[in-house]
Amino acid sequence: MLWVKSLHIIFVVTWMAAIFYLPRLFVYHVQALNEGDARGSERFKIMERKLFNGIMTPGAVLSIVFGLWLWLGYGISGGWLHAKLMLVLLLIVFHGLCWSHLRAFRDDRNTRTERYFRVVNELPVFLLFGIVILVVLKPF
Ligand code: HEM
Repeated sequence: MLWVKSLHIIFVVTWMAAIFYLPRLFVYHVQALNEGDARGSERFKIMERKLFNGIMTPGAVLSIVFGLWLWLGYGISGGWLHAKLMLVLLLIVFHGLCWSHLRAFRDDRNTRTERYFRVVNELPVFLLFGIVILVVLKPF
């Protein structure tokens, strides 16, 4: 069980690292577009695609696979897990939001501002705090 939990935490860290970084790339991408830097914009498209496909999505899938293994394989559960899963669902929605922005940049049809992405960048921080506090303290 501890191997499964270790792998769960490793992939959670991977997922969170990418989910914190991708909106930051979007901030710089908007800056490059505002400066008319077409080469910079093409470079950001490559970085965003590789981060999303190579790190963020595999991290998400493997976090969930090992999390489900802990829950359904070892029967670890409780009210805290149900609340945690609600926040994980919001994290998955956020992942999907990032995917839609990535496609908007790829197709040169982004309309969002730098300020929007700076605010969006903070959202997963609150989800991470909530998820870790629920799973470690198990308050209910
Ligand atoms: C479908 C998704 C997920 C499921 C079913 C799930 C389920 C679980 C379960 C059953 C445990 C074991 C708890 C224990 O042994 O006390 C666990 C541990 C943990 N989970 Fe998840 N989890 C999921 C996603 C996540 C996500 C997205 C994060 C962070 C962003 C996360 C962070 C953690 C941490 C830090 C631990 C270790 C807690 C400890 O050892 O005290 N999990 N998870």
